[in-house]
Amino acid sequence: MKDLDFTGQTALVVGGSSGIGNGIAQALRARGATVHVWGTRASADAYAGEEGSDLEGLGYTQVDCGSLEAIAAAPLPFDKLDILVHSQGQVLYRRQEFEPEGWAKVMAVNVDSVMHISQRLHPALAAAKGKLIVVSSIGSFRATMGNPAYAASKAAVNNLVRALAQAWAKDGIRANVIAPSLVDTKMTKVTMEHEDRRERALAKIPLARFGTPEDMAGVALFLASPLSAYVTGQTLVVDGGLTL
Ligand SMILES: NC(=O)c1ccc[n+]([C@@H]2O[C@H](COP(=O)([O-])OP(=O)(O)OC[C@H]3O[C@@H](n4cnc5c(N)ncnc54)[C@H](OP(=O)(O)O)[C@@H]3O)[C@@H](O)[C@H]2O)c1
Repeated sequence: MKDLDFTGQTALVVGGSSGIGNGIAQALRARGATVHVWGTRASADAYAGEEGSDLEGLGYTQVDCGSLEAIAAAPLPFDKLDILVHSQGQVLYRRQEFEPEGWAKVMAVNVDSVMHISQRLHPALAAAKGKLIVVSSIGSFRATMGNPAYAASKAAVNNLVRALAQAWAKDGIRANVIAPSLVDTKMTKVTMEHEDRRERALAKIPLARFGTPEDMAGVALFLASPLSAYVTGQTLVVDGGLTL
């Protein structure tokens, strides 16, 4: 389908080294885009053999999104940018998010970096009339047990995207959010590898299965394409009906 052909377009997927971001990166690549990803490891080779990390055919740069300096200094090995996806995410367990250090770390990666990276790439996105897509969470709508920074950061990012969508509409940029529920990635191993928790979580999903990176990629392709030309500032819930 022509609208879902991204040949000639360039995408950057922050957090594209793993999980949902990796699924989005590979889906864009499969439809013709040139795709770069950022991750935390020294090189693409450092992800070899890692479940949920297929870096085949993707450009890779190591950038610590928790550091403003690293974001400002990150090399940008492309001369135009049509699609910017934020799928970087951090969650801390054992009440670390109740402490200043844990709180600051999660807020820095989940919210601050979305703002600062988007702002740095705003000229490139404006030049291309580009699309900004942020992966938030259904945790943005309600409390997440034991993770106050995660809940606050995801709620903040939904509204940040509304603000950016409004501010940058005049540049032809559209900005939208995807809010997934549970997807089996390295972030959710704590639930997925614990049979009781896994079964309890599954029982709450009307579509009776967990989401996949491909499910999220389908929505990202829609948001990156002209099929969503009149959609901006929205949060699309992609949760198999969990929040119904
Ligand atoms: N999985 C779910 O059920 C679920 C549900 C709702 C929302 N989400 C959201 O979906 C997004 C993707 O998560 P995921 O489930 O795909 O988990 P994941 O597989 O752990 O992916 C997280 C990504 O963020 C990157 N990242 C983390 N900290 C970073 C930092 N300081 N600097 C740069 N990159 C950093 C990781 O890099 P490395 O690969 O180098 O570690 C990885 O690419 C997150 O925003 C998450 O909150 C996930």
